[in-house]
Amino acid sequence: MTLRSLLFVPGDSARKLEKADGAGADALILDLEDSVAPEGKPLARTLVAGFMGDRPRARRRSRLWVRINPLNTEHALTDLAAVVGAAPDGVMLPKADGPEEVRRLSFYLDALEVQAGVEPGSIGILPVATETAAAPFRLGDYALAGLARLRGLTWGAEDLSAAVGASTNLDVHGAWALTYRMARSLTLLAAHAAGVQAIETLHVDFTDEAGLRASCRAARAEGFTGRIAIHPAQVIPINESFTPSDSELDHARRVIAAFDAKPGAGVVGLDGKMLDMPHLKQARAVVAAWTALAPET
Ligand code: COA
Ligand code: MG
Repeated sequence: MTLRSLLFVPGDSARKLEKADGAGADALILDLEDSVAPEGKPLARTLVAGFMGDRPRARRRSRLWVRINPLNTEHALTDLAAVVGAAPDGVMLPKADGPEEVRRLSFYLDALEVQAGVEPGSIGILPVATETAAAPFRLGDYALAGLARLRGLTWGAEDLSAAVGASTNLDVHGAWALTYRMARSLTLLAAHAAGVQAIETLHVDFTDEAGLRASCRAARAEGFTGRIAIHPAQVIPINESFTPSDSELDHARRVIAAFDAKPGAGVVGLDGKMLDMPHLKQARAVVAAWTALAPET
């Protein structure tokens, strides 16, 4: 299933957890990492496990993911031990250095799923794959690593700028500086190379709906298929932006029909324009994206 919107919810806030349940997000990311202070982590683990336990997989309004703490911290195994029994749909892994960390997490999940009686292999993994200085160099390796649990790749600019001691991640015009644009593009390519979702990072100003919609449009046009949200108000604009429009679907179906009408043809004409294999591939991707959403819409 394609996840268009993934809404972060601080795991230590019972109020936000309840509020998030009705936000309409394709997935919630129940956070145990940076939105929770160290002293709040035990409470967050309890609240997050309880929230998921009250909502068995078959009755969830949103898929329920958990962002654990980085694997090299003292918190990560405690996080996993606390939440796997409540059958999260997936685990977001922050500050991942490369595919080996995803493999290590996958082994932990293999064992914990069996212990907890959760369907083996059913918990997905979404690494935040650009948050350390080393991580961007490894992006292409995800495609070669054979990671069955990998569902997507996403990127983040805040931790990466902290990792390199930068005082800003923006250029003089207020756009992402080159380092972050590069990390973003490599994430997009790496996700498609691995055959998983490319997930755009967050839009930090949650009152700026017009800016959010414009940047979602740009991201989708480039090949991203979903986006992180940090506030319930961002969910509907993100869902709408990452859903193919009626006219896009109609056009895609006409492209496919034009090729179907000429079996064996590598190139056809439609509305006075040449169409070849990349157009057919794109049209099929649009229809597939819609099909992946269809049960929800
Ligand atoms: N999930 C669920 N509910 C949320 C929410 C979220 N991410 N963000 C805000 N809300 C709720 C608030 O509790 C509030 O409800 P209430 O009035 O019934 O209490 C309502 O939505 C409106 O919130 P608002 O006043 O506009 O925002 P805020 O100042 O309370 O919160 C943030 C702003 C940024 C602190 C908050 O949106 C947030 O916690 N976001 C997620 C942060 C996070 O997880 N970061 C980690 C990844 S970068
Ligand atoms: Mg972070």
